[in-house]
Amino acid sequence: MAGDYDLVVVANRLPVDRVEEPDGSTSWRRSPGGLVTALEPVMQREDGAWVGWAGTPGDPPEPFDAEGVRCVPIGLSAEEVQDYYEGFSNGTLWPLYHDVIVAPGYHRSWWEAYVAVNERFAEAAAEQAAEGATVWVQDYQLQLVPRMLRRRRPDLSIGFFNHIPFPPFEIFAQLPWRAAIIDGLLGADLIGFQRAADANNFTRACRRARNLPARAGRIRLDAEDGREVRAASFPISIDFQALDQLAQREDVIARAAEIRHELGDPEHVLLGIDRLDYTKGILHRLKAFEELLDDGRVQVGEAALVQVATPSRERVEQYVQLRQDVEVTVGRINGTYSTIAHTGVHYLHHSYGREEMAALFLAADVMLVTALRDGMNLVAKEYVAARHDERGVLVLSEFTGAADELGQALMINPHDIDGLKDTIVRALAMSPREAGRRMRALRRRVGDHDVQRWAASFLDALAQHHDEHNPQAAAAVEHSS
Ligand code: G6P
Repeated sequence: MAGDYDLVVVANRLPVDRVEEPDGSTSWRRSPGGLVTALEPVMQREDGAWVGWAGTPGDPPEPFDAEGVRCVPIGLSAEEVQDYYEGFSNGTLWPLYHDVIVAPGYHRSWWEAYVAVNERFAEAAAEQAAEGATVWVQDYQLQLVPRMLRRRRPDLSIGFFNHIPFPPFEIFAQLPWRAAIIDGLLGADLIGFQRAADANNFTRACRRARNLPARAGRIRLDAEDGREVRAASFPISIDFQALDQLAQREDVIARAAEIRHELGDPEHVLLGIDRLDYTKGILHRLKAFEELLDDGRVQVGEAALVQVATPSRERVEQYVQLRQDVEVTVGRINGTYSTIAHTGVHYLHHSYGREEMAALFLAADVMLVTALRDGMNLVAKEYVAARHDERGVLVLSEFTGAADELGQALMINPHDIDGLKDTIVRALAMSPREAGRRMRALRRRVGDHDVQRWAASFLDALAQHHDEHNPQAAAAVEHSS
């Protein structure tokens, strides 16, 4: 039976966070992510619903409205949080899709939980979607949902967007359930990826794992009356205008000056902001900084590194290990090089609000993005959006999706520590003229390709592809009307 909503977003997380009020009641506050910002206007205009997990185990709250969007919470038991979220999503798929930086676990019990939870999301989406509605499924946690949904509701127009990389077949092939994942995704009409290379990897996996005719991002499904699925790149972005404006607010500019002062007014401030995740190359960055101090090319007092590491997935084994390694390294660097007056690395294991982040970006002469593999890396784009003063230098790993677009950043290979060190020194010494020229070009790119444009281009492409290539769905809608 069809529901009421013309646009249904399905994501592992709801777009709101639960807030405990002082009087003991709970309310919901919009979470800071870009996806929510991008989709909010479309969702409000089109009668949108969002299906997602509220972030804690146990029975789900009843559906509710927040910020003009219908939120439909999915419940996960404590065991499902372990097996579906921490296990298969973040212990299997996350490392597998990020170049196996750490070893993925292939546990059958995790897979079973992934299948069961994906069914639950598909069921909820099927209940909410109106006849002929558009359903947009997000990310690696829900790759089986498109197929499960199509089985229930052939009338729908189904899109999927993969926010993380899609690996080369030689790596993807390790997954015991690779064929089921491909089949799950192919339930969609349009599958979006960050980079053209990800879309190509997927198309190739369709050929190799499923023996399907797949060329130039078109996959033909003869078993489904020749239904054609499209795979293409749609690089995600940020709300450029909102951050640009926030960073121009007087209180934010004053806070940026205050941060520099609190750091002891060093000549150079370097900044890293990441989820505490092994894909981000935080240890490589610290190693380069430590060696620069050791070589005397950079001195504590003259330079300070601020590393914000947002707590993430704290019960997953590799994240516990990474935190220990980062903290030991920071302790060693500071123990060796800091003085009573000056600290080398300011390590902050917290998350910060938008204002403080904008102030940090403004306070930083050099932004270090040293990811070993990253679907996009929105922090790089945020730094650019905040620098309305056209100052600051972005050092960017070539292994991020952002590197495909941000050609005016200083590119690095984070594994090449000598190269990274030289690039940091170059960034610190860059003339304001050159930095300004590069920043202007970066700002043009991100300003023109913001997250609103990303969402609109995906949804337009989905509508177009669905109309042209899905005879079954057209027939289903006709039949029911
Ligand atoms: C990445 C993923 C998202 C995920 C986010 C935070 O950006 O692509 O799907 O929501 O990390 O991770 P978490 O496990 O806390 O949801």
